[in-house]
Amino acid sequence: MHPPVNPLEGEVHGPNGEIVSRGEVDRHGHFAHSEVVITPEFQDRGDEIMTHYPASRRSAVLPLLHLWQETHGFISEQAIEWIAGMIRLQTINVLEVVTFYPMFRRHPAGKIQVKVCRTLSCALGGGYELRDYLTKKLNVGEPDEHGLATSADGTYSVEFVECLASCGTAPVIMINDDFYESVTHEKADSLLAAHPLAPANQPANNPPPA
Ligand code: FES
Repeated sequence: MHPPVNPLEGEVHGPNGEIVSRGEVDRHGHFAHSEVVITPEFQDRGDEIMTHYPASRRSAVLPLLHLWQETHGFISEQAIEWIAGMIRLQTINVLEVVTFYPMFRRHPAGKIQVKVCRTLSCALGGGYELRDYLTKKLNVGEPDEHGLATSADGTYSVEFVECLASCGTAPVIMINDDFYESVTHEKADSLLAAHPLAPANQPANNPPPA
């Protein structure tokens, strides 16, 4: 799951509240620069991945990118340098992979991340209309070069994804790690209104960042 982002402090917190990234944040809630704390646990996970590729270190680039993004939210310059060091190649070799695969983000997603399936069944079932509806409703604006559109306050992001393996119940979406089928506009409204990270559901004494 993408860790929560606090645009005011410019920090990304891990599952136990520890700071795993710190940096300057621009007006879109994107990290302009970031410094990630490589914890021993994180390094151990990277080292464990490398043990699966004793003959070809280069083959570890995809699992290492997934590890970084799942932990830190997006692929920063530091991520590229760390992975290049792990696989003992140049940073350009890692960057080529990042730019080839649309699932890798160069900016953090919103705290509430909506993924809409756009593959055939969902496209025929209204996935594109649903994405357009959510884009307007959540005011996320235009997508970046990786197809990720994020609201100015960093609360919401919307993006297309490929088949989520429930083609018989199209259209299908995910909201953070939760999966929903046969999603109408009304159902999406209800799901988003009930989401615990939605601004309306935040405690009054701890409002989400403006
Ligand atoms: S096409 Fe959308 S879940 Fe398969």
